[in-house]
Amino acid sequence: MSERFVIEGLAGKKTLQGEVEIKGAKNAALKALPASVLFEDEMPMGNLPDIEDVRRMQELIAGLKDGPVLRKDIAERLRASIVLTGPVLARDGEVTFPYPGGCVLGERPIDLFLQGFKALGAEVEEKDDLFHFRAKNKKLKGARIFFPFISVTATETLMLAAVLAEGETVLQNAAMEPEIPVLAEYLNACGANITGAGTPTITITGGGLLHAAGRKYVTPPDRIEAGSFIILAALAGKEVKISHCEPKHMGALLAVLRRADVDFEIGKDYVTVFGGNKENSAYKLISVRTHEYPGFPTDLQAPMAVFMSQATGEGTLLETIFDGRFRYADDLIRMGADITVMNPHKILVRGPKNLSRKELEGPDLRAGLAYILAATVAEGTSTINNPYVIDRGYERIEERLFALGLSIRREQV
Ligand code: EPZ
Repeated sequence: MSERFVIEGLAGKKTLQGEVEIKGAKNAALKALPASVLFEDEMPMGNLPDIEDVRRMQELIAGLKDGPVLRKDIAERLRASIVLTGPVLARDGEVTFPYPGGCVLGERPIDLFLQGFKALGAEVEEKDDLFHFRAKNKKLKGARIFFPFISVTATETLMLAAVLAEGETVLQNAAMEPEIPVLAEYLNACGANITGAGTPTITITGGGLLHAAGRKYVTPPDRIEAGSFIILAALAGKEVKISHCEPKHMGALLAVLRRADVDFEIGKDYVTVFGGNKENSAYKLISVRTHEYPGFPTDLQAPMAVFMSQATGEGTLLETIFDGRFRYADDLIRMGADITVMNPHKILVRGPKNLSRKELEGPDLRAGLAYILAATVAEGTSTINNPYVIDRGYERIEERLFALGLSIRREQV
């Protein structure tokens, strides 16, 4: 039996009201869980989101009790599985893993990880679709590593591996996503020596296993979930408070929405959107270009396209991180959006256009969320066929949106 979401669209009306609490960040939790391998004692964790990807990572870690091998069936479905390879290689001196899976966002190579492990003194053998890395004398050695591209998971993986390597590791052209300094600060409190996390140069002085001694890692709020709800509130909300979030992690989105004339108030840990003060057609269509943090996140690119389709004017959305992240565009066009795909990295959007109901199938997690937004502003009842991709990253999304007044239900079919 499969499931689907059924959403009764608001036909452009702005009726959602109330407060929605943001959960812990998926992409922070998925890196903190592997960090637990670096500890001698138990690493207590708080504010973990209750989502599919977190459960898969927990299963992957549980599987390590049989040896330093990542379970193929899980790792092949979870991109973040690769983060676990760093701490396991550092701790056990070897690790075996398959090519990682995850959302299909065009090509997602792993060369940076492979080169990084080699730089830290590991040797690789590739056999039967599996990578097997082994550190000389079972111990990684610190090195200076320059990333030719900025990669979030490669930065995290090598930072974690270096915590147990011998000597100093310097990561240059590192990613600066807020999840990285949050994790580094926690690890430092437990005995690691990491400086510069949150900047392009991270220096790690390796040492022995870490000790949590009861100290808890608290997962920071999910800035992508918060951003998606802020966009939803601008499009379909009367007055919606997005609480338990970290507005300082959402500077790029809030700046774009400010320029688009969205009315909102920023508090220390909340953003209240006064969508009802304006018709969607009064919003200005602002061109957006995705960028590594602190730039505009690629994970908000699809929800932003829905916003742009409802704003007035013409503008482009330029995707600079991934190829193949516009696979949702055809569906939005079928719903009535005026979008032209210029090339694999750029779409042109003209708005505002009324959207109408459709049967949809989210191609990936963030596009799935964009479909929820599109179905909410559309006229008529839409269905989204594979809620599993959305459940991978958003906890009980239908219950939380229902509480704001959206008619959304999960149906067995
Ligand atoms: C992380 O993916 C996130 N995933 C993604 O979240 C997010 O879209 C992405 O960062 C960008 O912000 C997790 O944190 C688990 P990258 P990641 O390595 O680390 C190229 C979501 O929906 N590259 O920073 O896999 C790569 O092809 C998602 O939650 C190489 O060339 O992304 C891409 O063009 C999906 N070689 C660029 O770097 C490599 O070895 C950035 O990707 C690695 C990456």
